[in-house]
Amino acid sequence: MNKDVIIACDFASKEELFSFLQRFTDEKPFLKIGMELFYAEGPSIVKELKARGHKIFLDLKLHDIPNTVKKAMAVLSHLEIDMCNVHAAGTISMMEAALEGLTRPDGTRPLLIAVTQLTSTSEERMQNDLLIDRPLEEVVMHYAANAKIAGLDGVVCSPLEAGEVKAVCGNSFLTVTPGVRFADGEKGDQVRITTPAKAREMGSDYIVVGRPITKAEDPVAAYRRCVAEFLGGEIK
Ligand code: C5P
Repeated sequence: MNKDVIIACDFASKEELFSFLQRFTDEKPFLKIGMELFYAEGPSIVKELKARGHKIFLDLKLHDIPNTVKKAMAVLSHLEIDMCNVHAAGTISMMEAALEGLTRPDGTRPLLIAVTQLTSTSEERMQNDLLIDRPLEEVVMHYAANAKIAGLDGVVCSPLEAGEVKAVCGNSFLTVTPGVRFADGEKGDQVRITTPAKAREMGSDYIVVGRPITKAEDPVAAYRRCVAEFLGGEIK
């Protein structure tokens, strides 16, 4: 399994992104591109990053009727991205349609993972606003199981949930985990956090790290520290 550190590139423009990336002369980090940058710059940003040799997690969190998601995924499959995602709340049939759309004629496809419940949704809001009258953790595990049934590769979850997801869905089901901070670092607005080393112990396959790297005085050193802590000393 390819464990890796993914840098969350939460930048407003291509210029900001490239000025950040120019510091990386020896490594080609795996990058997460979200809605902000994708909507601002369009598919060309992904093509440009792929041409520079980066792996890309395109974090667009699709959630629509199965037919629409299938067609959107077919478009994304041409971008040669490495990972993308949908909301598990779209149902098993929507996730199956996403997988179908994403699969290229030669049978290859990027990894497809599901968002279960956003970490910004508290149990209280889920129960009161969404009328989902179950404990949050039970909902997260149920959605993860649905993603597995639909044939997806894994879920985005808290590192603290990674072990339980593996217990429910099997060890090869991927856990992609944000909410990672250095032991001596700032928490920012993240609440349920853990360190890169702890995330590895808990079973994360990919950690998604934004501000601890992008806002660091020395982003390359921060990235290397993340890789060393997460992969156990192995700097790629
Ligand atoms: O800066 P930070 O390390 O908190 O960045 C984490 C990244 O992971 C951000 O892009 C954020 O939107 C994303 N994310 C998250 N929690 C989730 C899903 C995605 O923090 N549940």
